[in-house]
Amino acid sequence: MTPLATDITNNDNQLEGTLMASDTQADTTPMVKVDDLVKHFKRSDGATVTAVDGVSIEVMPGEFTVLLGPSGCGKTTLLRCVAGLERPIGGRIQIRGRTVFDGDKKVNLAPEHRGLNMIFQSYALWPHMTAAQNVAYPLSAQKVDKKDIPARVARALEMVGIPELGKQYPSQMSGGQQQRVALARALVSNSDLVLFDEPLSNVDAKVREQLRFELLSMQRDLGFAALYVTHDQTEAMELANTIAVLERGKVAQLGTPQEIYREPRSRYVGGFIGTLNEIEGTVQSVDKGGAATVTTAVGTLTAASIAPEVKAGDRVVVVSRPERVELATKEPTLPNRWKVTVETSVFSGSRTEHVTSFDGNPDFRVWRSDMELFHTGTPAWVGLASQDLRVLPFGA
Ligand SMILES: Nc1ncnc2c1ncn2[C@@H]1O[C@H](COP(=O)(O)OP(=O)(O)OP(=O)(O)O)[C@@H](O)[C@H]1O
Ligand SMILES: [Mg+2]
Repeated sequence: MTPLATDITNNDNQLEGTLMASDTQADTTPMVKVDDLVKHFKRSDGATVTAVDGVSIEVMPGEFTVLLGPSGCGKTTLLRCVAGLERPIGGRIQIRGRTVFDGDKKVNLAPEHRGLNMIFQSYALWPHMTAAQNVAYPLSAQKVDKKDIPARVARALEMVGIPELGKQYPSQMSGGQQQRVALARALVSNSDLVLFDEPLSNVDAKVREQLRFELLSMQRDLGFAALYVTHDQTEAMELANTIAVLERGKVAQLGTPQEIYREPRSRYVGGFIGTLNEIEGTVQSVDKGGAATVTTAVGTLTAASIAPEVKAGDRVVVVSRPERVELATKEPTLPNRWKVTVETSVFSGSRTEHVTSFDGNPDFRVWRSDMELFHTGTPAWVGLASQDLRVLPFGA
């Protein structure tokens, strides 16, 4: 990837024109609206890969929308389609209310006419330019008055926390610092829309966490809308207003981080966004309030939350989050409880993590904040409130 490809900032005043046109519609016009987008690739062996398979998503002004999914699910392809770096097969893309791609009407605007910035996983900095020159690049390309450039560059470097590194070359900086330069370059042209492709994946865990919070606070301060790709569920939950979980080119679920964590629609989504305990069973009944009674190997469970398509007689999994499970040597009073054996019990700093087993279900995980550890083989009870059990279709 050449550094040139990162500079897709518009330089023809179309951005300003569009902004003014959409001003009257205030915050109701999405910054990005993708409808039924499809993108195929031809593999070298001749097979067709459907990388994006009928995706519809929106990014509202000032909001953070995260595309989350495992490797190969189509995240980068979708982002590149929005940026204009890939040509989709069909569907529509609007940016600030303006159509930039329409498969039926044969509209396909060039990247530089879409008025957005993109940050790639590889920082794509010019190696022969200093940090300041890299940051200045989009401003020069936009023909910003030369005398204004140094102050704007200095402000952007200040904003990303590296005011002292303007004269350094990329090879003289750490990965985290290079990433800050890339971020400064994306923010320097005051774009109201930035696309991010796994921008933090090349830095170590500690720096990643720090940059994540800084990015969020910059986004809150500057108010730009972000479409952000990651395969890291923690990153997705911390950054997003809305998460789209992708599964083989399709949106498996779209919602707030809380909705997706608390009410996953499928085992795929629930397991991708955090650790999920699963118990197989068969639905006995579903009452009017939407609670289900499920027969399982650990007994009859009552779950207050069920996926919409689940009905009596279905084969299902009853799922729960480890931090919602009680673990005690005395029988708890919770409505859902069964006897287990503690297999492992470890202290991980902020919590204790236990793996328990019972017949036919060897790995039921429990995370507790009370720091009590158990010897391997200790007989104990686990317990759960009905609100903390959710019933999902077996197959999904
Ligand atoms: N230029 C290309 N030619 C052929 N196939 C491609 C091309 N780009 C992507 N693909 C295929 O499209 C699918 C989606 O790829 P994409 O890069 O969008 O995934 P991703 O979700 O970004 O994965 P990762 O997390 O590994 O970056 C994959 O099966 C990939 O092999
Ligand atoms: Mg990718």
